[in-house]
Amino acid sequence: MLDVNITRPALPTAGALVLPVAEGKAGEAVGWQGLDAATGGAISRALAVAEFAGKKGQSALVLAPGAGISRVVAIGLGREADLTQLGIEEAGGQAIAQLAREERVTVAGNGLAPALAAHLVMGAVLRSYRFDRYRTTEKAEEKPRLAHLALLVDDTGAAEAAWARLKAVAQGVFLTRDLVSEPPNVLTPAELAHRCEALRERGLTVDVFGPRQMEELGFGALLGVSRGSVNEPRMVVMHWNGAGRHRKGQHDRPVAFVGKGVTFDTGGISIKPAAGMEDMKWDMAGAGTVIGLMAALAGREAKVDAVGLVGLVENMPSGSAQRPGDVVKTYSGQTVEVINTDAEGRLVLADVLWYCQQTFAPRWIVDLATLTGAMVISLGHEIGGMFANDDVLATALHAAGEASGERVWRLPLADAYDKLIKSDIADMKNIGGRPAGAVTAAQFLQRFVNGKPWAHLDIAGMAWSGKDAPMVPKGATAYGVRLLDRLVADTCEA
Ligand code: BES
Ligand code: MN
Ligand code: ZN
Repeated sequence: MLDVNITRPALPTAGALVLPVAEGKAGEAVGWQGLDAATGGAISRALAVAEFAGKKGQSALVLAPGAGISRVVAIGLGREADLTQLGIEEAGGQAIAQLAREERVTVAGNGLAPALAAHLVMGAVLRSYRFDRYRTTEKAEEKPRLAHLALLVDDTGAAEAAWARLKAVAQGVFLTRDLVSEPPNVLTPAELAHRCEALRERGLTVDVFGPRQMEELGFGALLGVSRGSVNEPRMVVMHWNGAGRHRKGQHDRPVAFVGKGVTFDTGGISIKPAAGMEDMKWDMAGAGTVIGLMAALAGREAKVDAVGLVGLVENMPSGSAQRPGDVVKTYSGQTVEVINTDAEGRLVLADVLWYCQQTFAPRWIVDLATLTGAMVISLGHEIGGMFANDDVLATALHAAGEASGERVWRLPLADAYDKLIKSDIADMKNIGGRPAGAVTAAQFLQRFVNGKPWAHLDIAGMAWSGKDAPMVPKGATAYGVRLLDRLVADTCEA
């Protein structure tokens, strides 16, 4: 992660400068710390030629303006009255994207409230993410150089406090992006469980369940998916006791997060086509998001008791794989006829959801899963799908989505859809046919939450991005970490 320094305003004498400018305030911004005078009027001339007015999304790049400064990026914030944390973050991300070849970037944040200025840094840091663990021959002139970011504000203490909290969330986002980016030969269920165990040093309690423990519990659905793989399954339970820390020894009923962690989804015996199958390395993004979120909550010492559970399996075809037609018995006791072995995520979640509500009696559960291709057809890559049996939770999630920019849109649950997963031989079957595929998948999950307040986020379209966005370079997005961090802040800590 970029190394961030927060200091008092002064004209930098080297590196690049980011100049955030509210609409109609370009004149004032140009004079920042005598910048225009020091550069012989280069900034005011360049902004005039670029017709830069500080409109939202507008930016202007000034090369070698003088005074030792290599580049100035003026970035439009839009109207001052309309400023939001999200808008500022996006501006920070947009600015930094033009400065990857700079080693040092200074952000002139003293025109903003210090807490808002910290969000400029947040956007810049999130956009600067890169997964280059496996690039060994990249030429120096192709690598980003960016390493240091200085934020200049008058009240450094206030900005430091805001950034400390945001930094913990950014670290959670980076952890999720790393996990989702890892190739599937490296990130097996056991390896992913190890990465969870490493979070103990951040103050989380981490319990790992292996196949024998899950056998004893009766996790027939999760284990059925895992049968075809030589890589053993795991379930990991992570606990953050943040409410207890603040009110000595007292425990709240926790909130719970559950993630689908299919480290690779071939489809199993109902095998997927070869083209694009490599994408199914990110079929563990729901789990990756829960893990990054728990790291973020611990890192910022959130005043909440939260549990995060992830079901980790690999879905492979082999002589020991489960077949279409098999009937499995879930931990809940309900039986499932497996019609299509590629509808595996719901089988994994069935056992973990039941375990979650049974063991922790949570206030509510939010699960995340790259569950259906149908979800991608419904909402594409812009907004995540939400299903919920609880209107209060759904409303809170929607609001958290608007505030964080990780948006959700609610789709329906209804008995008419539930009927579509009736089986002739078992309590249910694991697919409902092509119509409303994301809905019937959600109906399946609903049978395993035992009526507890619950929302399901189908993130199939959101986990991975083919194009750069202001705060998300293309690749693993970590969609959901900032959304759920916000949900916790607004519903549990406010
Ligand atoms: N992991 C996939 C869903 C998926 C597909 C996510 C494409 C992202 C992009 C899931 O396990 C799956 O295979 N679902 C099937 C369900 C079907 C067999 C009912 C699907 O959506 O095709
Ligand atoms: Mn599948
Ligand atoms: Zn899958």
